Amino acid sequence: MKIAQILSASALCLSLVACSQAPENKDAVIENKINALLNQMTLEEKLGQMNQISASANIEEMTVLIKKGEIGSILNEVEPRRINALQRVAMEESRLGIPLLFARDVIHGFKTIFPIPLGQAATFNPQVVKDGARVAAIEASAAGIRWTFAPMIDVSRDPRWGRIAESCGEDTYLNTVMGVAMIEGFQGDSLNSPNSIAACPKHFVGYGAAEGGVDYNSTYIPERRLRNVYLPPFEAAAKAGAATFMSSFNDNDGIPATGNSFILRDVLRGEWGFDGFVVSDWASTGEMLAHGFAADTKEVAMKAVNAGVDMEMVAYTYFKELPGLVKEGKVKEETIDEAVRDILRIKFRLGLFDNPYVEDNTAKMFYAPSHLEAAKQAAVESAILLKNQGEVLPLDASVKSVAVVGPMADAPYEQLGTWVFDGEKSHTVTPLAAIRDLVGNKVQVIYEPGLAYSRDKNKAGIAKAVAAASRADVVLAFVGEEAILSGEAHCLADLNLQGAQCELIAALAKTGKPLVTVVMAGRPLTIANEAELSDAVLYSFHPGTMGGPALADLLWGKAVPSGKTPVTFPKMVGQIPIYYAHNSTGRPAKHNEVLLNDIPLEAGQTSLGCTSYYLDAGFYPLYPFGYGLSYTTFKYSNVELSAKELKVGDVLTVTCDLENTGKRPGTEVVQLYVQDKVGSVTRPVKELKRFARISLKPGEKKKVSFDLPISDLAFWNIDMKKVVEPGDFSLWVAPDSQSGEETPFKVVR
Ligand code: GLC
Repeated sequence: MKIAQILSASALCLSLVACSQAPENKDAVIENKINALLNQMTLEEKLGQMNQISASANIEEMTVLIKKGEIGSILNEVEPRRINALQRVAMEESRLGIPLLFARDVIHGFKTIFPIPLGQAATFNPQVVKDGARVAAIEASAAGIRWTFAPMIDVSRDPRWGRIAESCGEDTYLNTVMGVAMIEGFQGDSLNSPNSIAACPKHFVGYGAAEGGVDYNSTYIPERRLRNVYLPPFEAAAKAGAATFMSSFNDNDGIPATGNSFILRDVLRGEWGFDGFVVSDWASTGEMLAHGFAADTKEVAMKAVNAGVDMEMVAYTYFKELPGLVKEGKVKEETIDEAVRDILRIKFRLGLFDNPYVEDNTAKMFYAPSHLEAAKQAAVESAILLKNQGEVLPLDASVKSVAVVGPMADAPYEQLGTWVFDGEKSHTVTPLAAIRDLVGNKVQVIYEPGLAYSRDKNKAGIAKAVAAASRADVVLAFVGEEAILSGEAHCLADLNLQGAQCELIAALAKTGKPLVTVVMAGRPLTIANEAELSDAVLYSFHPGTMGGPALADLLWGKAVPSGKTPVTFPKMVGQIPIYYAHNSTGRPAKHNEVLLNDIPLEAGQTSLGCTSYYLDAGFYPLYPFGYGLSYTTFKYSNVELSAKELKVGDVLTVTCDLENTGKRPGTEVVQLYVQDKVGSVTRPVKELKRFARISLKPGEKKKVSFDLPISDLAFWNIDMKKVVEPGDFSLWVAPDSQSGEETPFKVVR
């Protein structure tokens, strides 16, 4: 034996000895198990793992398919006994005993429903959001669900789009922070804990940019914008260990995400190192036929699997077409093997092989008091005080009677919001119920809905509501949207309050009584007129099961509003798209624009000095991103920087004094925005880089501090490289995206 062979043989022995003594490397153990299993699998069994069906009522039908190893995952089965029965078939009657993965859309709660994600984003409180996802995971896993199709982290800048309700709003950074918080909540400390569920960041990618805010519509997002705006939340999700991803319905620049290897392989796996699996959206593989991106289901299956979609949701083209495609060499069996590895890896990490069954302790877990309390806290913090003229809120002991009116005052189903499958309206506490419970016999509560539901055009009931208002000290009007008016496929071209709600508010305002308008909706609505007519406006995106107690506490001052708008509120729908992180343009509005009614008759035609705004709507939105009032006031002062000139590797520390200058305790969401003044490509006028919730007693002052690594100012530049470009920057420490003093600093080489 040559010396070299002796050396390599001894090296091999040494490494084997070392390996056998090393602490168990869990990943290596799982990879070995995957390989061992894969080597036994037939092609049909592999394709079975890549096949997800939606539960049918016919359990026998599903049993046959499971026995044959034709199913890898089932969505929408939520009955523990049925789940265990189907799982037993997979474990004990299929050839290889590979467990099924049961999935459900647990978007903002399973039984205990939290505010819709847009409302949770308004809390600017990642901990509250993480807690909510943890509760959802505990309740869903108690039923046997181990995989949710959430978080939805599509940057959403068009409130006409119904799915803005499911998103964390318009901002890249806010979606990033909240998406990671939800993933941590869903997946817990360890994915193989029985009450952890696999997260599934969606919809990858760019779905929120659907043209015209019409769902499923095409998007056109060039790579640079994709990388600077839409991809960062997903990159953070992948690096936070999200177990799965979901490809989106939209075609971006002509390529459906479900057939887009650039995002699914080059970016997701190549650049980010994602090692979980990708599931298509509902039949989004087959929808490539309608897109005109595939001529038949054979091409559908080939394009989707080669692009990197590992599991097909309910379309069944994989099972039908891939055997032939493999035989023809159009799809390599290695591609199939990689997909199956990814799926098995998550099933092993979930611990399903060792613990495939669910113990039915749903009775103990569903709607547990601590879950309801967490949902109430999230609802409290998600409410945004948009107006409080004359400090009509909070209501005090001088208020002896209130008229509770409006179609959302006692609407237990509507208050839950969109994407609720398992939460029951019977558990909802509405504002009417909560107010009655809170005030007891100390305050007379006169209830007259005025309208039966949000789209109700029948004005007959308005007179009764007005009569109730006339008899009360204060009017509390609960308006907004039924749950079904937002969410998937529910887009609106007109964002005014539906039905006769505007007439209701106008009639109530005419009584001259203090009018508090509370809006429960799945999106920002164009409520400029109603806000003008109201003394106070409290915006509570559909607040979930405990929305009533939360709103009652806020109205009577047991809690203080702290929510901030996670999305810009337009004055009118024609302003859309309107968002704070816009580019400057060559003619930025100077904010002293001449508006429609100020233009003199026969004004001379000129474009000199003209800027970018609408004659009839002006430049500003109704409410900017990051905006929200409190029952107290805050003073920002002494913004200081650790240095005025920094290098790329430095960390900038920004401090600011925040004082509670009012009479009540309150919590302020302090926001740090940065602008890159000059770039190799045009840059947004400002971008949110940090935020913090600061609670202060009356008169209390705190120094708020943010550490900002200069590397966080990197962006994808003219050369499509992610770099920090030295030059002039500005920052704002502010209560919202439209306020605050500009403070310059430089980045130097
Ligand atoms: C839907 C949605 C997706 C959801 C899936 C399963 O069409 O687009 O968000 O998770 O189908 O219900």
